[in-house]
Order: sequence, then C-alpha cells, then structure tokens
Amino acid sequence: MRMRRKKNLEPRLERQSGITIADPEAMCGHWRSLFPLTQRLCVELGCGKGRFITQMAKQHPENFYVAVERERGAVVMAMEKVAAEELANVRFIVGDIQDFEKWFSGDEVDELYINFCDPWTKRHREKRRLTHRDFIARYRKAVRQGGRLYFKTDNVELFEFSVLELPAAGLKLNFVTRDLHNETIANIMTEYEERFSSQGMKINYLEAEFV
Ligand SMILES: C[S@@+](CC[C@H](N)C(=O)[O-])C[C@H]1O[C@@H](n2cnc3c(N)ncnc32)[C@H](O)[C@@H]1O
Repeated sequence: MRMRRKKNLEPRLERQSGITIADPEAMCGHWRSLFPLTQRLCVELGCGKGRFITQMAKQHPENFYVAVERERGAVVMAMEKVAAEELANVRFIVGDIQDFEKWFSGDEVDELYINFCDPWTKRHREKRRLTHRDFIARYRKAVRQGGRLYFKTDNVELFEFSVLELPAAGLKLNFVTRDLHNETIANIMTEYEERFSSQGMKINYLEAEFV
C-alpha cells in the first residue's frame, strides 16, 4: 500500500505509542503476559488501514490481537481506529513480516489472518507471497498445532497458488471458496475487499489448519 506522505505522521504515531510494541523481539514468547486471561492470540499480517482488526477486536474482547504493518501512513490510521473505539485488546507492530519468527515463538499464536496481501504475480516473485512455504515455515515456529490461517484475496493466481502451496507446506485446508460473499459464513470486510467487491470482483477465501 503506497500512500501519500501524511501530515503530522510522526506526532500521530507518537500519540499511539501506548498501543505500539516498540520492541517486538522482546515480546517473543511472552505475548500472553500482556493479556494473561486472553483466550486466543490472533495476528493479522498486513493490516493496512485497520478496519478488519478493529472490528474483530470489538466483536471478540476475549481474544488478543496483534496487527503487523510496515507502511507507517497506513498503520497510523489503523491505530487511530482502535484508539477511537477504546479497544484494550489490540497492539501494533510497525515492521516487516519477514521478521515474524523474531517476534513470535513457542506455539503462542492461535490464529493468523492474511487479507489481500500483495500477489507478486511477476515471474520468480513467488517467494515474496505471504502464503509461500518459506513464510509458512516461519509462521509454523509460533503457531500451535491446530492453529488456523485465514486467507482472503481477490487475486485468482495468488489464490490458486495458495490452495496448492499450503497443503504442500503441511497445512490442512478446512474450507475453500472462490465466492466468499455468496457463502453464509460471518465475514468482516476489509478496506480492499470493499473496493474490489464494489467493482464486481469475487473474493476468494480459505481456512487452513496447522497440523
Ligand atoms: C493490499 S494491502 C491490504 C490491506 C488490508 N489487509 C486490506 O485488506 O484492506 C496489503 C498491505 O500489506 C502490507 N504489507 C505487505 N507486505 C508486507 C510486509 N512484508 N510486512 C508488513 N506489511 C506488509 C502493505 O503495506 C499493505 O498495507
């Protein structure tokens, strides 16, 4: 998500320091100490402007949510949404998902969410996809057995790649649809999802299990 330089970005980020994890490596293996009574630790990878994480956290106060985003202009908007709702169960990591295994470990993560990540459809770029087996190997170090990965995308090429790649990386596919909005399951629309959907594009969705 490339964004125009935001006015007052630094002071706005500074105002959200209470919900920003300044040193996520120090939290590795200790996330539950922030929320000892939490049921599940859920991580969104590439939260963008944060509608999804805000709604999820609001609907599930029993869970604890960590949102990862490297674009500061986007993540500040996500933070401000969470702050406006006064949600106590969300924290943010401003960083690159490449570093996931430095931040989480030891079966502490229950759920991962990847929504409309960059499809990297040019040749020889598959390794950058967040559903590539190299990324799955990183996630696996921190997601417990039985933990879930939830993935949505408009991009058919990325989706069909992922449907093959996740089982090849040892995950079990529990649910796959190529038209999420025609299913009867609960769904929180992300900013990108709303945009693609309003253009008439079908949304692909899968739920996978770490086994
Ligand atoms: C296409 S946008 C989707 C945003 C949001 N999930 C949605 O559905 O509206 C992808 C987001 O993932 C972020 N992103 C992509 N690769 C990333 C990485 N390696 N580390 C952190 N954030 C990343 C981008 O900055 C961007 O905000």
